Amino acid sequence: MILALETSCDDTAAALLDLDGKVILSRIASQIDFHKAFGGVVPEIASRQHLKVLPLLVKHLLEESQTSLKDLTAIAVTQAPGLIGSVLVGVSYAKAMAWSLDIPLVPVDHLEGHLLAPFLDHPDLEFPYLALIASGGHTHLLLAQGLGDYELLGKTLDDALGEAYDKTAKMLGFPYPGGPLIEQLAEHCPNPGIAFPIPLKGKKTLNFSFSGLKTAVRNQAIKWEILVEKKELIDYHRFIQEVNKEKLLLIADVAASFQQVVEKIVSQRIQQALKQFPVQRIVLTGGVAANQGLRRVLNELAEKKGAGFFAPSPHYCTDNAAMIGYTAHCYLKASPQGYPLDLFMNAASKSPLSRLESKE
Ligand code: KG4
Ligand code: ZN
Repeated sequence: MILALETSCDDTAAALLDLDGKVILSRIASQIDFHKAFGGVVPEIASRQHLKVLPLLVKHLLEESQTSLKDLTAIAVTQAPGLIGSVLVGVSYAKAMAWSLDIPLVPVDHLEGHLLAPFLDHPDLEFPYLALIASGGHTHLLLAQGLGDYELLGKTLDDALGEAYDKTAKMLGFPYPGGPLIEQLAEHCPNPGIAFPIPLKGKKTLNFSFSGLKTAVRNQAIKWEILVEKKELIDYHRFIQEVNKEKLLLIADVAASFQQVVEKIVSQRIQQALKQFPVQRIVLTGGVAANQGLRRVLNELAEKKGAGFFAPSPHYCTDNAAMIGYTAHCYLKASPQGYPLDLFMNAASKSPLSRLESKE
């Protein structure tokens, strides 16, 4: 059995997978309550929390699945990219465990974990596929040709898509993570009325840019007097109960219009990429892939193009250890000669995939 650990950002996660790469149990301890008030993840708080929670999470995981340490055949761990203090906690823990049990240690690129996550729910998925990884830290459009064979076609030139969601939510007064809240707010406005500008419009590029959109949201919020600059952020459920209808409609319009333009941007980029790289499968993954609107739009696009659409189920879109374990499983399977226990392997804030440059 593979024990997988993920501590790259603000979620402490552990999972157990069998030797076929099937998830036996996957658990996540969210730190959101510790970061909420700050409107984003505080690195120092994150690493201290991982240190406290990881040993307990692993203990519970093993107990709940009635697994003994002797049943473990490999340890998989996120090695990069991420907040260095946070990644370091997972990597140090994984090294100690692998060494004491004398079993292989598989370092995993967190972005590759997201890239392969759709296989957890769709074993029928095959290479090659066009994949958009959209998370809080990355927006990468890739052509995945095979395991470890990935070409970067485009990426964000400034903010990541998840970051744009989080910043929009923050400007409207809502805590981190803002993506799910923007999605819920947007439901209150079925006919969005603001024409936010499309970044990089008319340019022949597969890159993304979201910082101008952020400014446009800010200007709109100032105009409608709904910009929240104070540090105290609103609890969403309390807000929905207490807000007057008129104000809710304005906020919901900003959220829905933002979401509408994001759907347009993503769908246009995927169409452009398909023209250059006509593959049969489209993948949306990373935290933002939990967004139902984006999933629907890309599903429709895929149908129109006669292609397949694949996204992980929402709990495997956001950070989790199952995708780390699955990635490790693929590499273990591809290395019948055995995997080394490399105690010199170290945590890093950047990874080969996060460093990739597009050819544009
Ligand atoms: O992949 P992830 O869990 O962590 C990183 O690796 O960054 O992604 C987190 C990001 C956050 O920015 C969060 O707001 C966004 O994913 N997110 C969403 C939704 N759920 C999470 N964005 C839009 N709609 C959602 N339903
Ligand atoms: Zn992630």
